Amino acid sequence: MNKSDVMLLCVSPRHKGTSAMLLERIRVVTGGKLFFLPQKGNLDELVVSMQEAGTIIISGPCYINTYPARMLELLETASLTGKFSGQKLYGIINGGMPYIHTHQHGLICLQLFAEQNHLLWQGGFVLGVGAMLDGKPLEKHMNRRTVVPAFNKFIQNISEGIQSPDSLYIKAQSPPGKLTTRIFAKFLTFLVEKNLKKYGQDPEAPNYYLRKQDDGKQNGSR
Ligand SMILES: Cc1cc2nc3c(=O)[nH]c(=O)nc-3n(C[C@H](O)[C@H](O)[C@H](O)COP(=O)(O)O)c2cc1C
Repeated sequence: MNKSDVMLLCVSPRHKGTSAMLLERIRVVTGGKLFFLPQKGNLDELVVSMQEAGTIIISGPCYINTYPARMLELLETASLTGKFSGQKLYGIINGGMPYIHTHQHGLICLQLFAEQNHLLWQGGFVLGVGAMLDGKPLEKHMNRRTVVPAFNKFIQNISEGIQSPDSLYIKAQSPPGKLTTRIFAKFLTFLVEKNLKKYGQDPEAPNYYLRKQDDGKQNGSR
């Protein structure tokens, strides 16, 4: 791996969040230049930087079970521009939920993008419970005992320029059991209801779409 042509791209709008922290951790070993995905305006300049890189490492949050829409826009722009030739691509996606499968779609998007645009897909790392870190070091992660060595191995794979297998991050994070999931779900529901009440909303009220449906039925029956 040529350290001078490593591109570390953070696609979170939060520059001091977990996505950026993970890239900084990689940069200590691999070197390279850190980029942030601009949230507005033209993406052409960033696509040129991607074309010029030898290794691209993209790290971003999971927003509704995949990368943020702006990141998907970047992939579309890059696909339309083309001109890729063998750049190595690694991906990282972190989400709030303590699962792998709910975030994996982001990496699948990257893999498809690589395969269809002459880049070399090198694998990725899915990190659950990334929200709790909120940019703090990986050593604070609730599964630190297994996650830290796995992520360090991922970094080693990048610096050696080799493929990183999915089994690395899958083995490091086991999903919570049924009881924990129930307690967790109740806790999240409690937080949502508390916020709704704070803003004067009734948590028991039917949602906007159901109300609209009911209004439509009433108007139709008149
Ligand atoms: C609009 C939005 C949608 C989100 N959707 C999900 C989701 O579907 N699943 C999940 O686990 N976390 C979700 N999250 C939580 C983020 O993935 C999580 O906070 C992540 O750690 C943020 O990374 P960052 O610090 O790099 O920005 C969402 C957050 C936002 C703001």
